[in-house]
Amino acid sequence: GFSWTLPDHPKLPKGKPVAVVVLDGWGEANADQYNCIHVAQTPVMDSLKNGAPEKWRLVKAHGTAVGLPSDDDMGNSEVGHNALGAGRIFAQGAKLVDKALASGKIYEGDGFNYIKESFENGTLHLIGLLSDGGVHSRLDQLQLLLKGASERGAKRIRVHILTDGRDVLDGSSVGFVETLENDLSQLREKGIDAQIASGGGRMYVTMDRYENDWGVVKRGWDAQVLGEAPYKFKSALEAVKTLRAEPKANDQYLPPFVIVDDSGKAVGPVNDGDAVVTINFRADRMVMLAKALEYADFDKFDRVRVPKIRYAGMLQYDGELMLPSHYLVSPPEIERTSGEYLVKNGIRTFACSETVKFGHVTFFWNGNRSGYFDETKEEYVEVPSDSGITFNVAPKMKALEIAEKARDALLSGKFDQVRVNLPNGDMVGHTGDIEATVVACKAADEAVKIILDAVEQVGGIYLVTADHGNAEDMVKRNKAGKPLLDKSGGIQILTSHTLQPVPVAIGGPGLHPGVKFRTDIETPGLANVAATVMNLHGFEAPADYETTLIEVADN
Ligand code: 3PG
Ligand code: CO
Repeated sequence: GFSWTLPDHPKLPKGKPVAVVVLDGWGEANADQYNCIHVAQTPVMDSLKNGAPEKWRLVKAHGTAVGLPSDDDMGNSEVGHNALGAGRIFAQGAKLVDKALASGKIYEGDGFNYIKESFENGTLHLIGLLSDGGVHSRLDQLQLLLKGASERGAKRIRVHILTDGRDVLDGSSVGFVETLENDLSQLREKGIDAQIASGGGRMYVTMDRYENDWGVVKRGWDAQVLGEAPYKFKSALEAVKTLRAEPKANDQYLPPFVIVDDSGKAVGPVNDGDAVVTINFRADRMVMLAKALEYADFDKFDRVRVPKIRYAGMLQYDGELMLPSHYLVSPPEIERTSGEYLVKNGIRTFACSETVKFGHVTFFWNGNRSGYFDETKEEYVEVPSDSGITFNVAPKMKALEIAEKARDALLSGKFDQVRVNLPNGDMVGHTGDIEATVVACKAADEAVKIILDAVEQVGGIYLVTADHGNAEDMVKRNKAGKPLLDKSGGIQILTSHTLQPVPVAIGGPGLHPGVKFRTDIETPGLANVAATVMNLHGFEAPADYETTLIEVADN
C-alpha cells in the first residue's frame, strides 16, 4: 500500500541542512549587452558556473518540460515552481483549458451549466487578461469561449479587458483589442449584443497578487462592476490608443476606463442576475478578484454594490479555499509534492520570499496548496514588498532581507531545509528597464552570497536554481538572434520571460564528495530538481518522480 515514508538513500547521509535558492527570472543566454546577468557583476553565480563542471548544469524551464502546451511557450513562475516542488510534470491550466475547449467538455461541466442559467435574462461578463502570452490567459481561448457561449444562449456579453505588455511586447494591446473588437462585431451581426465594457492595465487594475495592494483590485471593481472610472470612451480601441499616447504610458499600467454609450452611460456594469467568468487560468493574480466577487463577508475595500451574480472562474484558483466554488475547467491535481513528503519524513522546513513572490515558494511549490502541511515543522516568512511602485525604481527589492532571514534560519539550527525565492531578475526584468535590471541581478547575486556563506558556516548543502528566464534577455530577437528594432529605430524591449534554460548548481561543505550531475539524462527540466533535493536530504525519491540529476561516485 501507499506510504509517505521515503527510503533512505543508499549513499547520502541525513542531517545536513539544505538551502534551496530559486532566482526568479534567471536564465542562461549568450553574453551581450541585453543580457543583464552578464552585464551585472555577479561573482557568486559566476563562480558556480565556472566551478566544477559536474556541479553546475542547465535544465529546461519552459514548454512541455513544465506542462505547457508546446515548446513555444515560455516558462513562468507558476509552472516552474509547481515542477520544482512536485517533481513531476503535470498538464497545466493553459493545456487543460485548450483540451476542454477542443473537446467541448467545457460546456458540459457544472461550471458552465451554472452560469448558463443567467443567459436568458442576464448579461455574461468575461473579465481577464487580453493577450496571447499564455501565462495567465490566452486570446484564442477567450475567442473560443465567446463563440461557444453565444452559441449556447448568451445574448448579451460584456468583456472587461486587462491590457498586458508584461507577458507580451508593450504596445501589443492595440492589436489584441482590434482582434477582439472584430470578433465582437461579428457576434453583433448575428444579433448578439456583445461589447467591450471596461479596461485597464494589468499591473494597475485588478491583477495584484498575494494581497500586496487591494487598491489595484478596487480600481478594477469600480470599472467592471460599478461602471465607474476616471476615463470614459466610446470604444476600447480609442481608449487604449488615447491612454497609450500619454507620456510614459504603457500597457501594464494603463489607467482604468469604462466604455460609455451616446448618453454617457457605462455600457456594462455588473448587475443582479448577471453571470461573470474570470477567464484567466492562472491563479495568483485572480484570487483577490475572486474573493471580491464571491465572498459575502469582505472587508478589503468598500464594494459599494454587491450584485447577485453567478460567478465561475476559468479554473478553480485555490483548492483549499475552494475559490471560486464554480469553475469551468478543473485545475491540475498536484498531490504528493516533495514538500509534503519531506515534512512527513521529519524535514523541518523554512520558506521565505517577499510578498510579490511569497506564494511562489509556498503555494505554487506545494502544488497550489495554501498553508502548512505540519505547522510544528514548518515556518513560512513573508517579507513585505514595496507596494505602489514599479520595481525599476527600487531594483534591489527585498533581496537582502530575504537572504538575512534565510541566513538566520540556517544558523538557528532549527531547520533542515531553507528555501527562498529571490525576485529581482524577474520583477525588474518585467519593467523592461535594462539599467535597473542590471542592478537587480547584482542584488540577487549578493543575496546568494549571504546564503552560501551561511551554508558554509553550518556545514550544509546548497542547490541554486531558477524558475524561468527573464533578465538574461531584454530584447526581442529575430530567428537568427538579432535584436529587432521598432518603428523609430530603437530596440524592441522584451519585458516577458524567455524560452531559455536555467542553471542548477550544487555544493557546500556538507555535500558528499562523490556527488556529481549525471550525464545520462536526455533533457532534464525543473521537475528533476525535487528528487535531487530529496537525495541531498538523504532520501530516495518516490518511484514516479522525475529522476534525480545526481549520482554518487564511490570514492
Ligand atoms: C506576472 O504575473 O508577473 C507575469 O505574468 C509572470 O511572472 P511570473 O511567472 O514570474 O510570476
Ligand atoms: Co515573471
